Amino acid sequence: MHRPQPDAQRWSLRVDPPWSLEAWREAAREALLRDVAPAQLDWLEGGEASLLDAPGVQQAPRPADASVPSVPRDFLELAATCLCHREPQRLALLYRLLWRIAHGERSVLSNPADADVLRATALAHAVRRDTHKMKAFVRFREVPGQADAFIAWFEPDHNIVERVAPFFARRFTGMRWAILTPGCSVHWDGQALAFGPGGRREDAPAEDARESLWQTYYANIFNPARLNTRMMLQEMPARYWRNLPEAQLLPGLVRDAADRVQEMHDRPAQAPQRKIPQRPAAGVVEDGPGSLEALRRQAAGCRQCPLWEPATQVVFGQGPANARVMVMGEQPGDTEDLCGRPFAGPAGQLLDRALAELGIDRATLYLTNAVKHFHHERRGKVRLHKRPESRHVHACRPWLVGEIARVRPPVIVCLGATAATALFGSGFNLLRDRGRWHVLEDGTRGYATVHPAWVLRQKDETRREEAYRLFRDDLRQVLAADSVPAGHGPALPPISGG
Ligand code: URA
Repeated sequence: MHRPQPDAQRWSLRVDPPWSLEAWREAAREALLRDVAPAQLDWLEGGEASLLDAPGVQQAPRPADASVPSVPRDFLELAATCLCHREPQRLALLYRLLWRIAHGERSVLSNPADADVLRATALAHAVRRDTHKMKAFVRFREVPGQADAFIAWFEPDHNIVERVAPFFARRFTGMRWAILTPGCSVHWDGQALAFGPGGRREDAPAEDARESLWQTYYANIFNPARLNTRMMLQEMPARYWRNLPEAQLLPGLVRDAADRVQEMHDRPAQAPQRKIPQRPAAGVVEDGPGSLEALRRQAAGCRQCPLWEPATQVVFGQGPANARVMVMGEQPGDTEDLCGRPFAGPAGQLLDRALAELGIDRATLYLTNAVKHFHHERRGKVRLHKRPESRHVHACRPWLVGEIARVRPPVIVCLGATAATALFGSGFNLLRDRGRWHVLEDGTRGYATVHPAWVLRQKDETRREEAYRLFRDDLRQVLAADSVPAGHGPALPPISGG
């Protein structure tokens, strides 16, 4: 191996911007072509001056036959990641590895015990972790007075903004946003990313209207019995907390967790207060223009499938009998089962938020579900939601058809796949067919979008926010005043059987 003398000529190399693989590669290529050994190089970042006043490496003599060997792809990937680290020695470390690869150690990266490989791998790991945290913990806040413009403040450990920005552009393509960090800012106008100088925390809005919703949701899903503070701090280090709306709740939730668990132990198992009549209903026999109320009373005794038994009560539709829009969900959840009203729990709150943002009064809609009993599984004292099976949907169909026949809404909006297949049939594919109008045989216009519970299930706020926008934008399309035809929809044939 080439070993330079201690007093060998030193050369300087500049990498600008210092996290750019292209810039580093260009510089490293110049050094390799001149056969300049790692120990002779003085790496400079951005506009930094050379302490040793070493001349630029371009001034070093270049042999006429000099060439640069190709480098393995995994080295380039490692280099691209490592370069984002703030460790000043990374530029030299990567060149040392490159030098070794070019001088006969082509498979050096496959030796995990090698000191240089070990160090580079650790740096890359830290950058990947920081990248993951940025994707998970960036919180956009609406810019007051500007529709659909958002700003987030984030403090990454490393120079990762350029690396992560395309992820946000893909996720939030349809909105205008900026992410400010101390070292650099990025702006997306719906078409292109633009990078600029760093910003200040005060330049980003402190909070917006949606914050209280996420807090309510977070408080609802926080399970004190599953609290593992060590894991939580590992996954969500305290320094990110001040930008997370839900973090304001954490100290209180953590403090009260032990008492809440004790209280859960002490509490007798939750026995649903049965409200359904003990006598089985005679089945759905509808041969006249019976009222919605009459249908509701009949449904209260339904035993057409086994779901009635563990449930508290039938959750029938709710809303004006002459509503112009019917919104159909899957089935009642835990909250709805206990209170007897559709869309009363977290998914309903998200629906309410979307309706409020679209200026639509929930009271004008008829809200119902494809299945009217809560399908769940009991785990200890907790009741876990289970998706209804097609036999449950089928058994409940007469109630749904009865509601449609009485309300005769010109428009039916299905939330989620269960509702959509209940209305449009099993060939309906939510992914493929959502977000556009479908005309039913009787002329009623149907539309399907995602379920708000799916929005809430997204695993981080970035994804939740994106899913929420899709949900709200679909609703906007269908509920816009001029999308809903005036008057009633065609009447469906009277229902019979059970
Ligand atoms: N999910 C639904 O589909 N319906 C409800 O009523 C509540 C949650």
